[in-house]
Amino acid sequence: MRLTDIVLTEHGVINVLFAETERLICATESVELLRGYASLLKRVLLTHAQLEDTVLLPVIRNLAESRAGFLHDEHKEIKGAFAALEKLDDYETFSDRLWKIIATAREHFKREEWSITKLGQELDEEQLVKHGKRWAALRPTLLPI
Ligand SMILES: [Fe+2]
Ligand SMILES: [Fe+2]
Repeated sequence: MRLTDIVLTEHGVINVLFAETERLICATESVELLRGYASLLKRVLLTHAQLEDTVLLPVIRNLAESRAGFLHDEHKEIKGAFAALEKLDDYETFSDRLWKIIATAREHFKREEWSITKLGQELDEEQLVKHGKRWAALRPTLLPI
């Protein structure tokens, strides 16, 4: 499978988690319930970002209009936002921050997908599949975050 297809597929799955978490934020006032969703979202997003830092961004870095450094900084920003979220206890602040993390991550996905489209245009099938195999091999080795 091509690296570009793998990353876009993971974005599709994570987008479902975003929508479900937003639905829950509107439906509950239980901070503990939201904390459980936030923890799941954090693990999914941060392992995805870890793979991107290792496999995707080094390839994007070689593109003519590279945004790899910017994308990496956004990964760090999202990781920091989840760490800050874990310290919160009141529902209003927790749900507001979680909502903002999802909005930030959605914007990040859009910027990343622009680079992924360019990658698909600049690399040939063989290179895309080679990088895709590397992602698939690393995915099961990641430790839970
Ligand atoms: Fe990313
Ligand atoms: Fe991504």
